[in-house]
Amino acid sequence: MCGIIGYIGKKHPKDVLLSGLKNLEYRGYDSAGIALINNKTTQIIKSVGKISSLEDKINNSDLIDSKIGIAHTRWATHGVPDEINAHPHKVGKITIVHNGIIENASFLKNKLIKEGVCFNSETDTEVIAALINKYYKGNMVDALNKTIKDIKGSYALGILCDDEPDMLYAVRCESPLILGVGDNEYFITSDIGAIINYTNKYVLLGANEIVSISKNGYRVEKDGKEINRDINISSLNNESSSLMGYDHYMIKEIMEEPVLVNNIIKKYINNMDKLVDLKKYKHIHIVGCGSAYYAGMIGKNFFEEDGLDVQIDVASEYRYRNIKYSKNTLVIVISQSGETADTIAAMRLANSKKVDTLAIVNVDDSTIARECTYKILIEAGREVAVATTKAYILQVLILSLLSYKLNPSEEYKKDLLELPVKLKILLDKTGIHKKMADKIYRKKDVFFIGRKIDYAICMEGSLKLKEISYIHSEAYQAGELKHGTISLINKGTVVVAVITDNDIRDKTISNLEEVISRGAKPIYIGNERVKYKSKIIIPKIHKKLQPLLVVPSLQLISYFVAFKKGCNIDKPKNLAKSVTVE
Ligand code: F6R
Repeated sequence: MCGIIGYIGKKHPKDVLLSGLKNLEYRGYDSAGIALINNKTTQIIKSVGKISSLEDKINNSDLIDSKIGIAHTRWATHGVPDEINAHPHKVGKITIVHNGIIENASFLKNKLIKEGVCFNSETDTEVIAALINKYYKGNMVDALNKTIKDIKGSYALGILCDDEPDMLYAVRCESPLILGVGDNEYFITSDIGAIINYTNKYVLLGANEIVSISKNGYRVEKDGKEINRDINISSLNNESSSLMGYDHYMIKEIMEEPVLVNNIIKKYINNMDKLVDLKKYKHIHIVGCGSAYYAGMIGKNFFEEDGLDVQIDVASEYRYRNIKYSKNTLVIVISQSGETADTIAAMRLANSKKVDTLAIVNVDDSTIARECTYKILIEAGREVAVATTKAYILQVLILSLLSYKLNPSEEYKKDLLELPVKLKILLDKTGIHKKMADKIYRKKDVFFIGRKIDYAICMEGSLKLKEISYIHSEAYQAGELKHGTISLINKGTVVVAVITDNDIRDKTISNLEEVISRGAKPIYIGNERVKYKSKIIIPKIHKKLQPLLVVPSLQLISYFVAFKKGCNIDKPKNLAKSVTVE
């Protein structure tokens, strides 16, 4: 999704902005641009496609001498991805970059057109620039205050003004934006990863707080009153933004799983009181999107075994259902980024009902981490690949630990301590995973089947495969396939059967046999030495830890399939890392 970086300091902004844009690439985008300002001149350079083509354009341009600039990666919402719609947008004296969506943009645009304003692009961003320009009479804070009263929706804005070539301004509401504080230099960004090569110090900006930045310092204010905000230190480091010798971030991030899992185990194993006690609650709701939702499906299986009443929804549906709450309800909100718009809306609905909310989240200081009653950080570090791997695994680990807290057992504890090593050994077996990938990468369709928790595992395995390899894939409850979808099984269709739950093992095997007799080629993923030729034997472990060995295996298979197909693994088409629109 869209990303913002802005800079003011001693350096020429070009290098800082380009390095920031490269660090924002992982979020998904289709065009990018920068604006530099000096001495009443604003220079804008934009390009469609990769940051590298913007870089070529910048390197072939006569750049103005400048110490201030703003830059943006755009993921199209209003208008096609072309240079005209790419940010920055300039109207009159005002140049801006914008993340978010202005819901009343067309109403405001029509009003401005009647007042004589001409628009070049189809974007809502140009409408904001026109409004600021209309209200600017020499005082930017005043113009911004008037503008934010008119606009409805979500926004993070970086703003330059021809008449104030020594100043950089920013304001946000709903969409994230922070102020980075360096050594006599300042940054604005929607993602700390964009500036981490320069500083790890940052200031959070509250809704509609305006920050005015000069080379000598900054002032944060709201409704005319100065606001003193603490400087925070980010735990992110440069290492998480580099490939460290791997071909792709996705494989690097899968290979980080054993260490990260071990860190979380060490943190909680003798400090279980640090985790929320679910015993206090009678009803658990789980919400999330995509993989976070599938992690939640695993959690539902755990907690139901522990005797809790659990319901789970994708966040975009949850908010439109007629949900019943009681004072014993806990809503568990799962999100890597903590900024997914649908999940934020579901969380805010729950908060408005005055029930407790628990964030299982990676990015500290994200909206979800800040607004939930409780938070548990999964501590995955920065996840760069668009397709989540390590964050999903750590979400499931936290859910497993919450379940262990409800129902402690020596058997679980012993197996938990063995998990990191077992996981490392499994991931090191790249040969067998490549072999399975060989059987899949030429196929058009792949089906995953499993029952109960194995079905939840299949959902994530199937999503991983389709999103990065573009092979059509579906996950089915093994017993449900015969009620219609089995008509899609042809000679040679690959069916991956996940079988780790012994209670329903024989049933799933029967379902696998049903598709084999219709020509399917089976791949078995489970704990037993079965007759099927294509298989991965997963080490046995406590059943509430089993997904933490099976899913990494499926992640590896998907990675090698996409690798063999030559796909753009870290940035699959049409996808964005952090989905900040509803
Ligand atoms: C899939 C994937 C997405 C995210 C989903 C939620 O690989 O990454 O399905 O899981 O968009 O994102 P977060 O967890 O940031 O709320």
